[in-house]
Amino acid sequence: MHTDGHGDANAAADSTQPGGEAWRQMTNQLVITIDGPAGAGKTTVSRMLADRLQFRYIDTGALYRGVALGVQRAAVAPDDDERLAFLCQGLELHFVRSPSGGSRLHCGREDIEDEIRTAEISMLASAVSARPVVRRFLLSVQRRLGRKGGAVFEGRDTGTVVFPEADVKFFLDAPLAVRARRRHAEFEGRAAQSLDAVESDMRQRDHNDQSRAIAPLKAAEDAIRINSEGLDPEAVVARMLTFIESRQSSAPGK
Ligand code: DC
Repeated sequence: MHTDGHGDANAAADSTQPGGEAWRQMTNQLVITIDGPAGAGKTTVSRMLADRLQFRYIDTGALYRGVALGVQRAAVAPDDDERLAFLCQGLELHFVRSPSGGSRLHCGREDIEDEIRTAEISMLASAVSARPVVRRFLLSVQRRLGRKGGAVFEGRDTGTVVFPEADVKFFLDAPLAVRARRRHAEFEGRAAQSLDAVESDMRQRDHNDQSRAIAPLKAAEDAIRINSEGLDPEAVVARMLTFIESRQSSAPGK
């Protein structure tokens, strides 16, 4: 289960530092969105930012992967809208906090977090995410998750479509070659794909995600753009926190 972001009431009363009590009271209703292409560093940064703020971290890409796994298992064609709609109705996707602190995607009672992380599911998720019927279904799932605030949403359209009114929006990007190298390195020698194959898959997914007719990957007009090339995740998170802080202190009524 997720916590609400309401943390330890004994935190120092004067703590306006990120994660401190005063900071939490000021920010705990916020919805923060982090969008961008694969490999830009969104996951690491979103998790770290959520940790610092004691917010929930919501990986919306995992939801698309969850649908893709359902599609694969039921052998549904990714463009068969009627069967996709039926499949979605039966999927009970939700996040469960793991003992190690992360959150894992479950479908009903089954933990599917590991199964949704294969190269095949990545490609299938990109295909099903172009289907309006799937996006409609996941839109309501995501909005339900965001209702209480106190969450960092990571995805492709969370600042443009899912939460156009989000309090703070970031768009994290980096050149394709940099993103591919990072993704390949994440596998630490266990990569089933060569660096070239990772880069070519990524190029294809970028193209799919940016060119689909519905909710294409793009920065919201009011998003803060950050290029993560040459920045470590701590530096990116520090920039984000500075921005959130300045936004909060200049908010009306503060
Ligand atoms: O972030 P990821 O690689 O786990 O996302 C898997 C796929 O889901 C990706 O190809 C694009 C799609 N996606 C999307 O269309 N909208 C989102 N908000 C998140 C992911």
